[in-house]
Amino acid sequence: MFVGSLGCKSSSCHGGAGPKRSQYITWSRQDFHTKAYAVLLNARSERIADSLGIASATSSARCTVCHSPFQSVAPSRLLPTAHPDEGVSCETCHGAAGGWLRGHTRTDWSYNTRVAAGLHDLRNLYVRANACVACHQNLAPEISKAGHPDLFFELDGQSVAEPKHWKDEEPWTGLRQWLTGQAVALREMSWALANDPQNDDFAIARWDGLAWLCATATSAASIPSPVSQSSGTPGLSDFTSMQTQADTLARRGSTSNWSESSARSLLFALAALDGEFTAKGTANLLLGQRAKRLVFALDRLTNALSQNRGAPLKIEPELNQLFQDVRTLDAFDAPGFATHLRAFRAALDKSG
Ligand code: HEC
Ligand code: HEC
Ligand code: HEC
Repeated sequence: MFVGSLGCKSSSCHGGAGPKRSQYITWSRQDFHTKAYAVLLNARSERIADSLGIASATSSARCTVCHSPFQSVAPSRLLPTAHPDEGVSCETCHGAAGGWLRGHTRTDWSYNTRVAAGLHDLRNLYVRANACVACHQNLAPEISKAGHPDLFFELDGQSVAEPKHWKDEEPWTGLRQWLTGQAVALREMSWALANDPQNDDFAIARWDGLAWLCATATSAASIPSPVSQSSGTPGLSDFTSMQTQADTLARRGSTSNWSESSARSLLFALAALDGEFTAKGTANLLLGQRAKRLVFALDRLTNALSQNRGAPLKIEPELNQLFQDVRTLDAFDAPGFATHLRAFRAALDKSG
């Protein structure tokens, strides 16, 4: 049974003061997910719904699966306190609380007891990445064409942006999350392409960008279970094989070991890829998608290194420029991007 966020709200539980009890407050005041239902009422949603011939976005399962998940739950599993307008709320991520709401506060219950009772094991980064990617990567192509924003999944940065109502204590969790997140996104895209015979150029370019990044990064960082990307126009067998490779990488990535030196060496290797953007022979559509994935990787690597050494790397203007370059890819300027990537690398070298 789903209880709804009201069941977690009490000040002696998750609606109190102090970091240990404030998860409800963080979620209700700051988390994007509280607005997930409300956005279905805005003008953009109305336009998307119109162009799809949907009478109302707020009650069509094509939208509510992600924006108002309680609507996809059988009414017999919803307690009266669970409301569809909560958007993406506690139990969407943590699992229906009916089975563990009373028990989970008992002092003789460990984390594992709670998980055995049905709490989703979100401390496991593979489980966590799967939970988020379910709503954050694949969208039916008609919905995109109707004007929905493009979905782009990157677990580490998006966890910070949510914002987090928890602490990830282990120092290199950020990079594990980044790698696991990229790998599950690649698996989901591969699955979608393998199942859709009408692949469009854009969907394939997006897939190629991420496959390229995962292949490049796993090889540069000598990560066991690397991803390998075959050259030439990808077909069904490439998508199905990538689906398996990406899932293996996601599992491996969720427990991957990082250190200052392995993170630095990957960062420098990725920052030295400017030649890929000046070489002839790769379509601009693909280069733009590769560049975008690369910029997000540089961002998470610099973030992890800055955090672990307790001082920021001084690369902000150069990194911002790269983000600017990939903001819209309609007229991606590959040589310009290569120049900016060299400037980023020079700033990295100086920052030590
Ligand atoms: C697969 C899950 C999924 C489905 C299905 C989905 N959305 Fe979304 N939607 C998202 C996510 C995730 C975002 C946030 C994207 C971002 O900002 O990066 C979003 C963002 C939006 C936004 C922009 C948010 C804003 O602040 O204006 C609108 C509007 C929207 N969705 C409407 C719809 C409508 C209407 C439908 C049904 C036709 C729909 N969505 C179906 C996942 C989904
Ligand atoms: C979008 C997904 C999502 C939503 C919505 C969500 N959580 Fe979480 N929550 C997480 C993740 C991921 C973690 C980190 C893994 C963990 O500690 O279990 C977490 C951690 C927690 C923790 C452990 C905190 C710690 O420091 O160890 C509590 C308690 C919690 N959430 C309560 C809530 C409550 C209460 C709500 C609703 C008001 C909520 N969560 C909504 C994803 C979510
Ligand atoms: C049930 C579907 C669902 C799940 C699961 C989910 N999200 Fe979302 N998320 C959404 C929707 C829908 C929006 C758009 C809400 C809006 O525009 O206000 C969104 C918006 C966001 C945003 C703001 C837009 C952006 O992309 O920057 C962040 C950050 C985010 N989600 C992170 C996460 C993380 C991290 C997890 C996993 C811990 C997660 N989400 C799990 C549906 C989901």
